[in-house]
Amino acid sequence: MNRRHFIVSGSATLATLLALQDSVPFLQGQQERVSSNPIDRLPLLFGTDYYPDQTPESLWEKDAADMAAVGITNVRIAEFAWALMEPQEGSFDFKWLERAVGILHSHQIAVILGTPSAAPPPWLTQKYPEVLMVNEHGVTLSPGTRRFTCPTNATYRRLSLAVATAMAHSFASTPGVIGWQIDNEFTLGESPRCYCRFCREGFQQWLRGKYPSLDALNQAWGTVFWSNTYTDFSQIPVPLPSGAPPNPGLALDYDRYQSAANSSFLEEQLTMLRKLCPAHFITTNNVGAADFIDLRELYRNLDFVSSDNYPGFFAIHASVSGSGASAPPEVIVPMVGFTHDFMRSVKDGEPFLIMEEQSGKAGQPFFSPQPEPGQLRLWSYQAVAHGAMGINYFRWDTTNFGAEEYWHGMLRHDRSHSPGFDEMQQTIRELKSLGHEALNARYDADIALCFDSSSDWALAIQPGQPRLKYLTEILSWYGCIAASHAGIDVVDATQDLGRYKVLCSPAMYVVSRKQADRIRHFVDGGGTFIAGFRLGVKDEHSRIVDTPLPGLLRDVMGVELVDYEPIYSEKQGVKFSGPLAGADAECHIWADILDPKSKDAEVLATYTGAQYAGKAAITSHRFGKGRAIYLGPHLEGADLARVLLTLLGSSGVPRSIQAPPGIEVTSRHTDRQRWTYLLNHTAKPQSLQVDGRYQDVLDHSAVSSPINIDPYGVKILVRS
Ligand code: GAL
Ligand code: ZN
Repeated sequence: MNRRHFIVSGSATLATLLALQDSVPFLQGQQERVSSNPIDRLPLLFGTDYYPDQTPESLWEKDAADMAAVGITNVRIAEFAWALMEPQEGSFDFKWLERAVGILHSHQIAVILGTPSAAPPPWLTQKYPEVLMVNEHGVTLSPGTRRFTCPTNATYRRLSLAVATAMAHSFASTPGVIGWQIDNEFTLGESPRCYCRFCREGFQQWLRGKYPSLDALNQAWGTVFWSNTYTDFSQIPVPLPSGAPPNPGLALDYDRYQSAANSSFLEEQLTMLRKLCPAHFITTNNVGAADFIDLRELYRNLDFVSSDNYPGFFAIHASVSGSGASAPPEVIVPMVGFTHDFMRSVKDGEPFLIMEEQSGKAGQPFFSPQPEPGQLRLWSYQAVAHGAMGINYFRWDTTNFGAEEYWHGMLRHDRSHSPGFDEMQQTIRELKSLGHEALNARYDADIALCFDSSSDWALAIQPGQPRLKYLTEILSWYGCIAASHAGIDVVDATQDLGRYKVLCSPAMYVVSRKQADRIRHFVDGGGTFIAGFRLGVKDEHSRIVDTPLPGLLRDVMGVELVDYEPIYSEKQGVKFSGPLAGADAECHIWADILDPKSKDAEVLATYTGAQYAGKAAITSHRFGKGRAIYLGPHLEGADLARVLLTLLGSSGVPRSIQAPPGIEVTSRHTDRQRWTYLLNHTAKPQSLQVDGRYQDVLDHSAVSSPINIDPYGVKILVRS
């Protein structure tokens, strides 16, 4: 999913999140995990994204001096400069880049170099037009922008590796160079997946490795259906438009192949960089939660996650979709929070770097409003509050040309200071003073939210109801549980879940045996598992299970499905009882109709509509030392929030700080200290009650209840 899709599906949660006015208070849990960060030796990284390739050389010296005066520690450069670095095939010119790095270094500004494979130059696509990506409609993409190439194509790979290798040879021991960003935003393209003939061959090759035999593949996909039985791997197509929808097993494997192709593309450059530049760190950047690549796979062998953060996009979309001039903080805050939590979780909670942070009006062709005074600082602190260790503002200057001429940086078009310049300078100074320990501390999370690519992609292939979208469900649930102020990690449920009190998993459509075993063990050991509808419908091959639903998790949930139904114009409703007692709710989009099978299953809500009136809608099952709760109906906004927050309230997530809407509370810890972040995303002063006495890390004052926070203000508290 590209950024545009992310915003569109994210906006579908606006209604849900807008309804979230009541927040139930919780305290962060006391976890014993301490940072095992392999990058402890990193310097502080508070920098900017800089484009000497787009800037007259006569300005470089002044730029570097001005950056140094602001306190900037580093830049990220060169990630789109292929045409300047290799003006003709095989003839490299790094002289200009060496001069730029030299000037920056003379001002003590360190350099992260980007390899330029995201934007191949015109000579390349003219000579090798076969490198161009073919989109899902079978259309070959035009060059002349960026991200228009095939991840499988051997020529594109060879040339991408060649230019990166030449760079690595030139800069392996250049003073000032500290690390690498491979490529730029693999998840960004307008067209997320390639369907060209090279990808078809690559897919066939990948399938040979995945399945022990062609028979096994035919079995797994059920190719007997519509006479699709393959007698040779070379017959296997890619899911381009055909006479009917593709085989779901093939389509899901194709999504996996495309993800693997991007990861192996990255690995080629990574292997080379590890060899030639052993002293440098290596990462790549993506926008949080863009979901057509499995980011856990992409980042597996990189040193840390880098994330690009543009909260202003959400305001643009709210306006384009007609839902308001700009989205309120109740909407934007959890969406941005989710992207941070998602990216931090990609490498199991290790601190991540914001490689690009919005520094002014942002966008192409529409641009976001100028952030309110205080917001740029607040958004930077929000990233740190969710686990970031450093921030680079995108970008230093604002270019006067090109597709991003309205992407406003720290300087304006005339190179004077932008409206947010002083604020960014202040933020850099403050965040540096926070120091290494706080910036590398572990984020506290008592709740795990399951996000799994297989369920995501399989549900996109066969949603059942056109409005059912995996990421929308995830964002809705996140928005609701985030109001608890308990920290949330985003997991895929294949790992040990023992450190969490609660695991939430909406629309877990595909459940593998490993995931089922992890969840069973988690609940058995005392955890609370809260699942949404469409649980355990499919196995990893995208075959529907041949047992009653929820398949592998029937014993844990203590229920079986009577039926499942998409809802269009029919009326379906939900009546709550017991601990969930409250006003009836409407149920749209989907309903799983439940039948408690275990004597330990309790019905917490029933359906009120037509043929399933009186049947169980929500159940809670005691299993081992824990509980497994099944939310059968799709609930909207306030109803989902009320249900989830009530369930969390009885799940051992400790209560504490009572925060009004628009206030975020997070915490990070080492074994020595815990830092509690209070972030006011509203335009009004706010005040909070806390227990005990604290010290404000930013101004060293002693604080206790009530704690007052300025509009768009930040407090970072440590126990005194
Ligand atoms: C990022 C991208 C940058 C720049 C920025 C503004 O997604 O990595 O190259 O395009 O957004 O669009
Ligand atoms: Zn391709």
